[in-house]
Amino acid sequence: MTLQEAIVARHSVRQYKNQAIEAEKVEQLHAAIEEANRKAGLHLQLVTDEPEAFAKGLAKYGKFSGINNYIALVCRKGMDEQLGYHGERIVLLAQTLGLNSCWVGLTFSKQPDHYTIGEGETLHGVIAFGYGATQGVGHPVKPVEKFYKAPAGDIPEWFRRGVEAAVLAPTAMNMQKFEFELLPDGRVAARTRFALVGTYLKIDLGIVKCHFELGAGMENVRWA
Ligand SMILES: Cc1cc2nc3c(=O)[nH]c(=O)nc-3n(C[C@H](O)[C@H](O)[C@H](O)COP(=O)(O)O)c2cc1C
Repeated sequence: MTLQEAIVARHSVRQYKNQAIEAEKVEQLHAAIEEANRKAGLHLQLVTDEPEAFAKGLAKYGKFSGINNYIALVCRKGMDEQLGYHGERIVLLAQTLGLNSCWVGLTFSKQPDHYTIGEGETLHGVIAFGYGATQGVGHPVKPVEKFYKAPAGDIPEWFRRGVEAAVLAPTAMNMQKFEFELLPDGRVAARTRFALVGTYLKIDLGIVKCHFELGAGMENVRWA
């Protein structure tokens, strides 16, 4: 499965089978996490065999079950967009390995003994992953025209493919508060839209930019 196929196949999955993840797959995820940390200065951490974060409280309310593995989303303040971008690359990698996942900002309980939060850093949430009980279902998708602005006339095919990939992306509460603009010089601006709850907007923006690049083809995208 390619990353582009993973964009279509991925849906949030909240119930997992009691099935161990093969060591090679854990190692691939670990390597991807280390690379993201190195490239972007993040502090993502792989937590395995840890069932407590989803054992009680809000997690139950959120209908999570069978989660033993997750990525702790730790970074310094102001790094939310990079966190979203690199976190989603790892989500899509997991999907290509046959694993399911779910970004979780709120509905889990913190387990500080299982990861490190350095000075000036925050835990923004986790990405739960494992073998899903199901493959999940697609979220409602509005017409792509609602998500972009462009000069009058036909938009290039690569730009349309980018927006189509972005609307399939996970966003907090499926808010999809983002838009892309094709500028007259061919560069692309990506922005958040107003939302009453703004906590995850920048993380969402990083996630949808990751999808846009994969859909459009990196060679076509010059960010404004
Ligand atoms: C930053 C972020 C935070 C999220 N937090 C939660 C959460 O706390 N609980 C939950 O059940 N789902 C959470 N989600 C999953 C979204 O609800 C889900 O991505 C959205 O409804 C779209 O569905 P899909 O991922 O199946 O396409 C979160 C997603 C993102 C991107």
